[in-house]
Amino acid sequence: MDGNGRWAQQQGRLRTFGHQQGSESVRRIVRASRRLGLRALTLYAFSEQNWERPRFEVEALMALLKDFLVSEREELIQRGIRLRMIGRRERLPGHVREVLDDVAAATADLDQMTLTLALSYGGREEIADAAREIARRAQAGELDPELVDARFFGNVLPSMEVGPVDLLVRTSGEQRVSNFLLWSTAYAELYFTDRLWPEFEVRDLFEALAEYQTRDRRFGRVACAATEGTLADPAALVASGVHV
Ligand code: IPE
Ligand code: MG
Repeated sequence: MDGNGRWAQQQGRLRTFGHQQGSESVRRIVRASRRLGLRALTLYAFSEQNWERPRFEVEALMALLKDFLVSEREELIQRGIRLRMIGRRERLPGHVREVLDDVAAATADLDQMTLTLALSYGGREEIADAAREIARRAQAGELDPELVDARFFGNVLPSMEVGPVDLLVRTSGEQRVSNFLLWSTAYAELYFTDRLWPEFEVRDLFEALAEYQTRDRRFGRVACAATEGTLADPAALVASGVHV
């Protein structure tokens, strides 16, 4: 979700106004994704690197995140949406952790769609954290290093709980991944749009999905494959669905 600041600048407003409008985009895209029957939606809401932004902006983003969680709580429950987070939870302010835990607990058993918020998240950090934990377990004699392969990683990375990414959408014209879901995007289809996040409409989501449907996903093979899950793990196929 990129381009909040540039959008605000275009209107002659503060960057935080862009974030405010950006959170409206989040609301409509979450709603539309659920209506479309997407199984999983992961939003890169705050990166591990975003802490370097001015304090005022970080605080505004945290306040908006809290507002979103408080105001959407009932709707998430009604629509059967499970909310979870990935990232360094301990770095978030206590007042955000509190509502996050509350909404996560209240929606834990819902199964219509999984909404994952990537907060204080970095793809490299996630992989490094998992590697450290694996090394620790191996050193403690609890894990045979021979068991550690790509599939093993797929089972331990929090971002992989919803399966590999099918479609990665980035707004605002930048064409980079910026430390998002590095592992699970290995075979993701990438979609870039010039639209700035606050102006990203439901029809833009439709366009991205329509484009996705024209892609021929081969996963390194020659024949057309349905999803990445069919290659390794039938359970992952069931769990994955279209992951935006
Ligand atoms: C994305 O918009 C929002 C977050 C990272 C939280 P930006 O704030 O990165 O907007 P630009 O890139 O400065 O326009
Ligand atoms: Mg940006």
